Amino acid sequence: MNPDENLRSNLLDALKLAPDNPPLLKQIADIEFHMCYYKEALEKYKKSIELGIDSNEAKLGLAKCYFALEKPSAAIVIAEELAKDDDAPTEVFMLLCKLLINEKQFSLARDHYNIAVSMDEKFIDESIEYKLRNKASEPKQIEEDWDAVPQKQVEDDFDEEDYLAQFEQPTTDFSHVGGLENVKEEISLKIIYPIKHPDLFEEYGQTAGGGILLYGPPGCGKTHIARAVAGEAEAAFLSVGIHEILDMWIGNSEKNLNEIFELARRQQPCVLFFDEVDALGASRADMKKSSTRHIVNQFLSEMDGVDSDNDGVLSLAATNAPWHLDSAFRRPGRFDKIIFVPPPDLKARIEILDILIKDKPCEELDLQQIAEKTEDFSGADLKSLITNVIEQCLRNSIRSGNKVLISQDLMLEGLKTVKPTTKEWFKIARNYALYANEGGLYDDILEYLKIKK
Ligand SMILES: Nc1ncnc2c1ncn2[C@@H]1O[C@H](COP(=O)(O)OP(=O)(O)OP(=O)(O)O)[C@@H](O)[C@H]1O
Ligand SMILES: [Mg+2]
Repeated sequence: MNPDENLRSNLLDALKLAPDNPPLLKQIADIEFHMCYYKEALEKYKKSIELGIDSNEAKLGLAKCYFALEKPSAAIVIAEELAKDDDAPTEVFMLLCKLLINEKQFSLARDHYNIAVSMDEKFIDESIEYKLRNKASEPKQIEEDWDAVPQKQVEDDFDEEDYLAQFEQPTTDFSHVGGLENVKEEISLKIIYPIKHPDLFEEYGQTAGGGILLYGPPGCGKTHIARAVAGEAEAAFLSVGIHEILDMWIGNSEKNLNEIFELARRQQPCVLFFDEVDALGASRADMKKSSTRHIVNQFLSEMDGVDSDNDGVLSLAATNAPWHLDSAFRRPGRFDKIIFVPPPDLKARIEILDILIKDKPCEELDLQQIAEKTEDFSGADLKSLITNVIEQCLRNSIRSGNKVLISQDLMLEGLKTVKPTTKEWFKIARNYALYANEGGLYDDILEYLKIKK
């Protein structure tokens, strides 16, 4: 056993005798972080904080875990909070710098880097300086984009530091989404037309409201199509981070949720997008039950608009584990339209390939042939294929000194580098569809798998 592992194992034994000892929890967390056991470290930092440890180091550890686990929003919230403290560890500013580089907020990142280095020269870091030098001069930065929320201006007090929700910059629309014709149609009918033609809907006594839940295997375009709605709808589009809302450490989750809905109500028409909404159910196990219940209830009553007017607030959510979501979410007025986003069929695969190679240097390609050879591929798998082929073209170009175009042969060669990833999901989904198919909820899965009911 290596020394770290040995120490950890001894300390874990000690923890069994004193499970609520905050300094011990923190000490183990530090070791686990060092050993890259980020999830385990995160839990222990959290617990030591909940138990009242008086240490900025524990909070910094927690933020670093979030960063390592690719949950930058939560990391930023904690780090910003810490940075306000006069006794903030210097490392907080370095962490903020890295987080902001990730968020492409280069000038803010540089400010934090300067603070860190002025406090302690040992934080001078060539690679960060290189990134800041090269990126800070890029013309388009997120900070500036805040001034340019296009269709509807963000009027008043939306706080830039409020990382729980962000107005989306529409860069895509439905023309960037291959296949999924029926999904486009349902979204158009329930979300886009009511926004564009409110009079018509009013004449029929219909108000815009309620929501759509998209579900399906990973990589098949749920997030992609939801973002395209931002470009299609000509309305404010607010993307909400469920994980961030749920973060009990931040406290105030219910208040935050209410603020997001209030913001949407002020911006009507507005589309609210909740990605990976299953987190509301999935994380229930590792949280105090009652507090999660509270947030779920709050979420549901915000959707119902019990105390407020939700006309013109439309919701869109995505998940690849719909079975983790409380059935209360599916009641009328909430996510009452549940749509399956399947892997692309042959025609859709041709369309997606076409979208992916658009504007790339290509020879004449037979996309039909490639599409025929990519059954069970998700859109993301097709994207990997094209990325690999392009990399190969670049390598060949550099080697030969001439521009090498994307060719059919390179595409066929590239197929050897990518495997379809959708089948795994269907193994799980099939069981839910067969044994937990309340009200035919998952009939689309059965149909896709050609299983007779
Ligand atoms: N129908 C599609 N048309 C065009 N591109 C697509 C399509 N589906 C997937 N892609 C490409 O694959 C990438 C991944 O898709 P996306 O992130 O939307 O999948 P997802 O369904 O949200 O997956 P997950 O369940 O893992 O979140 C997209 O960024 C896009 O480039
Ligand atoms: Mg997604």
